[in-house]
Amino acid sequence: MSQFIANPVNSLKGSVKVPGDKSISHRSIMLGSLSNGVTHVSGFLDGEDALCTLKAFQDMGVKIDRNGTDVTIHGVGLDGLKKPDQPLDLGNSGTSMRLMCGLLSAQSFSCELIGDESLSKRPMGRVINPLNSMGAQIESHDGKPPLKIIGGKNLTGISYEMPMASAQVKSSILLAGMYASGRTCVTEPAPTRDHTERMLRGLGADVSSIGNVACVRTVKELQATNIVVPSDISSAAFFMVAGCIAKNADIDIVGVNMNPTRTGVIDILKLMGANLTVSNEREIGGELLADIRVLSSNLKGIHIPEELVPLAIDEFPVIFIAASHAEGKTILSGAEELRVKESDRIQVMADGLESLGIKTKVLEDGIEILGGEFTKPSEIIEAHHDHRIAMSFAIASIRSKYPITINGVETVSTSFPGFAELANSIGMNIDEKKGA
Ligand code: S3P
Repeated sequence: MSQFIANPVNSLKGSVKVPGDKSISHRSIMLGSLSNGVTHVSGFLDGEDALCTLKAFQDMGVKIDRNGTDVTIHGVGLDGLKKPDQPLDLGNSGTSMRLMCGLLSAQSFSCELIGDESLSKRPMGRVINPLNSMGAQIESHDGKPPLKIIGGKNLTGISYEMPMASAQVKSSILLAGMYASGRTCVTEPAPTRDHTERMLRGLGADVSSIGNVACVRTVKELQATNIVVPSDISSAAFFMVAGCIAKNADIDIVGVNMNPTRTGVIDILKLMGANLTVSNEREIGGELLADIRVLSSNLKGIHIPEELVPLAIDEFPVIFIAASHAEGKTILSGAEELRVKESDRIQVMADGLESLGIKTKVLEDGIEILGGEFTKPSEIIEAHHDHRIAMSFAIASIRSKYPITINGVETVSTSFPGFAELANSIGMNIDEKKGA
């Protein structure tokens, strides 16, 4: 087990470029593998989650070469995957498992999907049920992994109303829909990240998005194209909050993905009074990018608008750290999905914040946080196999009166390899004890 010992600091200065977007990196491997021709990916996230997807496709016979963040995929076409010799191990990655369920349920072969302790507790019924209604056959352990996907099924397009806002569910159904007869449509209760739709369109698939309904028609072939992965706004969020709460901060975060289905964290921090500016907006490969400058800010508590929840779904752990330093109360509601992420992010964050001396009230679908100071020497905080919990409490140390020790930080490398080094390069003081 590895540990962070994160120490208080006053001043944060400098420029950072955070690693590539996790969602886009996963999809680049999946769709590059299914394309005809060679895909070059640059800026790929060399974090464990995306590498699990990469390895899974190699295990299904796709030739993929990687040199750091440059990846070359020799696509095998929509029907060129081979039966893997062993179960595909997807580690900590819910995105890999849910998206791959969709496309694997349409293959000629059967296979098994497994994951780590955290992934093995996560709900898969949300993809299994709609996929089975398309004609797929997926067996689970009470709706949880390991999953067995039976091959050789003919899928039929469906119109599905999702009970929850989830890009993973939407994407899983659309990926199955590429192989299904007729048209497959997914209606979401609120907009979620649309990287699958954008990338499929870029590869020549017939995908429409009208309002909250995304549809795909049977795809004959995908044509390989090069993919540039922008920096992950979910990773950038740690530095946005770091800059807001530090006493003396001036941080530039460059080349960040600004896809409008992902920018909720910026809207929320601005509503809280963040001193944050977005500049140099540009477009690369169908995705928007920009540079972000953050200065020390006087934050105030707000009731977070519920429509922003799906647009900031991965950033709440660190938004809660911002709320802990805001004046007054911050209320989050309509966010029950946080309970089924890599950990129960509402309860785990509340426990950690309370141990640092912050008053919280846990709600069924959210949390109330009363801003204050981290004045207590905390007990050791457990990351619960959740990368974003580990990084959020590292950011909390900036304004803590005492060092914060976080246990189980090895999962940080699932999404943000090099987090502690990059944070230290702008003035943070995180000591990483490997295998402590
Ligand atoms: C993701 C979708 C989100 C997000 C996850 C990545 C994706 O999950 O939390 O980190 O790449 O589609 P949900 O769709 O379950 O909200």
